Amino acid sequence: TRTPVNVTVTGAAGQIGYALLFRIASGQLLGPDTPVRLRLLEITPALKAAEGTAMELDDCAFPLLAGIDISDDPRVAFDGANVALLVGARPRTKGMERGDLLEANGGIFKPQGEAINAVAADDIRVLVVGNPANTNALIAQRHAPDVPAARFTAMTRLDQNRAYSQLAKKLDVTVNDVKRLAIWGNHSATQYPDLFHAEVNGKNAAETVNDQKWIEADFIPTVAKRGAAIIEARGASSAASAANAAIDHVHDWVNGTAEGDFVSAGVVSDGSYGVPAGLISSFPVTSTGGDYEIVQGLAIDDFSRARIDASVAELAEERDAVQGLGLI
Ligand code: NAI
Repeated sequence: TRTPVNVTVTGAAGQIGYALLFRIASGQLLGPDTPVRLRLLEITPALKAAEGTAMELDDCAFPLLAGIDISDDPRVAFDGANVALLVGARPRTKGMERGDLLEANGGIFKPQGEAINAVAADDIRVLVVGNPANTNALIAQRHAPDVPAARFTAMTRLDQNRAYSQLAKKLDVTVNDVKRLAIWGNHSATQYPDLFHAEVNGKNAAETVNDQKWIEADFIPTVAKRGAAIIEARGASSAASAANAAIDHVHDWVNGTAEGDFVSAGVVSDGSYGVPAGLISSFPVTSTGGDYEIVQGLAIDDFSRARIDASVAELAEERDAVQGLGLI
């Protein structure tokens, strides 16, 4: 039998945690041959709730679950971590300014980055889900100087999955017919879901849709504002679909993406496509089981250029704001 992989999940007692942990323990994150040891990180007041979730995990008798540890100390929870899912974050509450939000999250992601740097396994891979995901990932990454920057990623896979589903509905096809539909930029309302490089049954998606008005006035805003629409309908933010996207992101990173296809992830820019180096921006990426690599050589037309630039400008503003606060 193989040695268990240590998977650390922060915010384990939250609603995404509740949807995520059972899928990890059942083998959907790393595959059916890989045992996992779950390491749950929560804040002290939520430890009891995390213990309740751990009791339910025990009660599933998952054959691949090698053990569960719970802690409120990042140095304990990230010790030996091979995969870290940073889900816990400080949500924006009424009257909170952006600076307050960034500062509160800096207080979470700086110590977590430091702990990952100090105690995680050499092959650590980090996915930041907690919002503002790209900038939280940047803060953590900057405080882990000994970890290769490519190991820090932010989640835009939920946006991608939303885009797949909206496009498939529009064209009356299934999501299996769609390929290469990526999100660029920030996981925010400025994100750019790109139909111009996407394919439907091997044909260009934008040409197949053949309706620029639908792309601009319907498709892009529906995908970008889907999170708010879920809150409006459900009375709570996306949880199962966010957990599902986190599973997809890490699964494809570790096991590789399909030949000829690409997926979306927030990764540290190397300057590709004019995105300033160092920003954690979403790109079309591929993996062969090592790092996520930015897909090169895609032609960017004026429409896509303007959309990418606008979202990247927002990322640069967020970076400047956390820099101004001394968080990076
Ligand atoms: P939630 O509020 O139900 O759970 C968050 C949990 O994090 C709580 O149990 C809380 O105690 C914990 N937590 C707070 N600070 C912590 C710390 N320093 N260390 C460890 N745990 C800590 O929230 P939910 O619904 O699970 O969402 C989590 C985050 O994911 C939010 O920031 C949300 O905005 C974000 N999100 C991101 C998406 C994406 O596509 N990137 C999609 C959906 C949600």
